[in-house]
Amino acid sequence: MTLNNNEFPWTPALLQWFEVNQRPMPWRQTSTPYYRWLSEIMLQQTRVDTVIPYFHRFVERFPRVEHLAEASEDEVLKLWEGLGYYSRARNLLKAARVMVAEHQGTFPATEKEALALPGIGPYSAAAVLSMAYGVPLPSVDGNVLRVYARLTALAENVLEPATVKRVQGALKTAMPQHRPGDFNEAMMELGAVICLPVSPLCQNCPIQDHCEAHRQHRVEQLPLRIKKDRTTRHHYLVMYLQNAAGTCVAAQKNPPSGLLGGLWAFPMMEVTADHEDMKALPALAAKEAVARWQITLQQPEAVGRLRHVFSHRHWTMWVVSAVSEELPPACEWLPHAELSVKAFPEVYQKVMRLMDERAASI
Ligand code: ADE
Repeated sequence: MTLNNNEFPWTPALLQWFEVNQRPMPWRQTSTPYYRWLSEIMLQQTRVDTVIPYFHRFVERFPRVEHLAEASEDEVLKLWEGLGYYSRARNLLKAARVMVAEHQGTFPATEKEALALPGIGPYSAAAVLSMAYGVPLPSVDGNVLRVYARLTALAENVLEPATVKRVQGALKTAMPQHRPGDFNEAMMELGAVICLPVSPLCQNCPIQDHCEAHRQHRVEQLPLRIKKDRTTRHHYLVMYLQNAAGTCVAAQKNPPSGLLGGLWAFPMMEVTADHEDMKALPALAAKEAVARWQITLQQPEAVGRLRHVFSHRHWTMWVVSAVSEELPPACEWLPHAELSVKAFPEVYQKVMRLMDERAASI
């Protein structure tokens, strides 16, 4: 085997291992674009063992793209039943119809046309084009990323899209230009049976000698998968509004779904800035109450600041008390005694305790 200067030195050993050790799969006997496309769609998020009987049933019922294109969506969904992620089946049918209408009933041979098909992203486009037509594009899924990150002891977070882009670029340049389909499948296969996420079988790996992570005894620590901090921070003006008689407080029952769904709440307005200067709060609350709720506040006073954490949501709440004859939208007047009867979650219990402390200190 000749090796192009740019190519990975471990490619021949990987391909040789794949030739001898690959698990038999019905779509691997062929480079038929239709079979390669169908199997790649089925294999997204689904294990090989599960896919095989579905693949057989599909190609028996729809031996060619034209047969699939003529099917009803109901029939395709019925055949897909149990595979899950049903948008795959709906897109499959749409794409089959595009192939018949625009590509002579076959999977198109360019990346641009492939990416224009429903249900085809960069990963599946590269997989089908390389395996069916020998187009040298790398299909980079989780398995391939893991194999590559270990081989090169990649110091980058593979959960970042920019990292995936760089890996795609590196693989595209150095993958064997004459056998891209075999290379892609060999990488997937190595990731599926040897280079496992946990307890990889390095002793059986055909390219162990080339593996930088193995040399550094860091195989189990790679790839780096650093989850983004999903915490969001929110600032609210929380209004403790009483009627003029001082007998009732404005409150609302939240809609049934969403955060604190179906529970009771005090009216609040999300604000963008922090309000370290509490002196400005009463005027801000009065202004925003007119702008957002069309109500007029009397005697607005800053009561204090509270914080509350809901797993990934951090709330900072600036509590303002006021008197009003009018209610904010969706609110009703609750007599004071009702505050301990209605279901107010902890975050608003904090507001009530703050108000009690203030009353006690006056
Ligand atoms: N997963 C996705 N595509 C695959 C393929 N062609 N072979 C094995 N596993 C896969």
